[in-house]
Amino acid sequence: MPLSKRWTLTRYLIEERRRFPEASGDLNALLLDVSLACKAISRVVSFGDLTDSLGQLPATEAGGVNVQGEVQKQLDVLSNEIFVRMNEWNGHLAGMASEEMDEPKQIPEAYPRGKYLLLFDPLDGSSNIDVNVAVGSIFSILRAPQEVVDSGRDVTEADFLQPGAAQVAAGYAIYGPTTMLVLSVGNGVAGFTLNPNLGEFVLTHPCIQVPADTQEFAINSSNSRFWEPPVKRYVDECLAGKTGTRGKDFNMRWIASMVAEAHRILMRGGVFMYPRDTKDPARPGRLRLLYEANPVGFVMEQAGGRASTGRQPVLGVTPSSLHQRIGLVFGSRHEVERIERYHHEPATRDPGVPLFAERSLFRD
Ligand code: AHG
Ligand code: MN
Ligand code: MN
Repeated sequence: MPLSKRWTLTRYLIEERRRFPEASGDLNALLLDVSLACKAISRVVSFGDLTDSLGQLPATEAGGVNVQGEVQKQLDVLSNEIFVRMNEWNGHLAGMASEEMDEPKQIPEAYPRGKYLLLFDPLDGSSNIDVNVAVGSIFSILRAPQEVVDSGRDVTEADFLQPGAAQVAAGYAIYGPTTMLVLSVGNGVAGFTLNPNLGEFVLTHPCIQVPADTQEFAINSSNSRFWEPPVKRYVDECLAGKTGTRGKDFNMRWIASMVAEAHRILMRGGVFMYPRDTKDPARPGRLRLLYEANPVGFVMEQAGGRASTGRQPVLGVTPSSLHQRIGLVFGSRHEVERIERYHHEPATRDPGVPLFAERSLFRD
C-alpha cells in the first residue's frame, strides 16, 4: 500500500476517539507522548555500543540495583528517564510507576496533574541488549482513583493496585530489525511500524488476531526441575509430539525477552510460559504483574488470545504490591485453556505421587 494511504498512529487514535464523542482527547495525547518515549528509546538502543551505554551500572553507584535486587544496565536507567521526562509535564497523569523505580513517581509541582496512571517496564529483556537481540518497552494505562483526581494529592502504591481488566490502554514497543508499536485501546489490537524517514509510527497491522491453535511453545526449560506438575505434564506432552497424546509435533522458542515472545505469538500464534515454580519460595513467578503481565495480557485478550496465571485469568488478579511477581501463561487460546485445565485437574496423572496414580482412590 502506498505510504500516503496508510494511517499514522495519530490518525488511528483520532478515528478510535470518534467512537466516543464525549472523550476529551487526553488519552490520545498521553499515548502519543508514550510513543515518543518509545521512539527516543529505539534511537538510543539502535546506537548500541557507539554511545558506550551498553554496560552495567557499577553496583556501588546509587541506582545500580533496582528494587527487585536486579542489576540495572545503563540503558534500563536511561530508558526509564526517557519515559519519565516525556510524560511528567503533559498534565494527563496523576503519577507513574516503573520497574526501575522503587516508589511511585510523583508529578512535579511545576506541572498540572491529570486523571491517568502510567505504569511501564522501560526496557524489557535488557539481558539481551549486549548481544544485539530484540528488546522492548511495555506500558499500561489505568484511571487514577477519582478521589486522587479531585484532591490532586500525591499518588500512593495503593492507587496502582487495580486488576488488569481495569486498564484503559496497554501495549509495547519492540526494538528489533524494525521498531514497532503494538497497542490496544480496548477495541482490538493494532500494530504500527516506525517509518524512520518520517519518524512516524504507521499502521501496518490493523487487526491483529492470535490463532487459537499452535504447534509452538516457549519456556525456559532450565527451570524444569522447579516446575509444578501441570506445567511438567504440558511440556512433556508437547515434547512427545506425534508419538504422544497431542498427536502432533511442537517447535520450541526462547528469546528471554518477553516483548519479543509476545510479538511472535501475536504474529503467528504460540504459547509462552513463565509459570510459578518452586525455585525461590519468596518469588511466585518471574514476571511482574503490573507492568509486564497485565499489559501483555490485555493485548493478548484483545487479540483473541488468552493470558492466565495458570489458575485464573491474569487480568482478574487483584494486585497486592507494586512490584508483585506472578506466574504467567499467554498466547493461543486453546493451549492456554489446556494449561489451565491441567492446573485445575486433580493430580491424577502425576506418576511421581503414588496416592494419585491412575488406579488410586482419587481417580477421576
Ligand atoms: P527485564 O529485562 O525487564 O528484567 O525482563 C526480563 C524478563 C522477560 O523479558 C523474559 O521473558 C524473562 O525475564 C527472561 O527470564 P530468564 O532469564 O529466566 O530466561
Ligand atoms: Mn521486563
Ligand atoms: Mn525491564
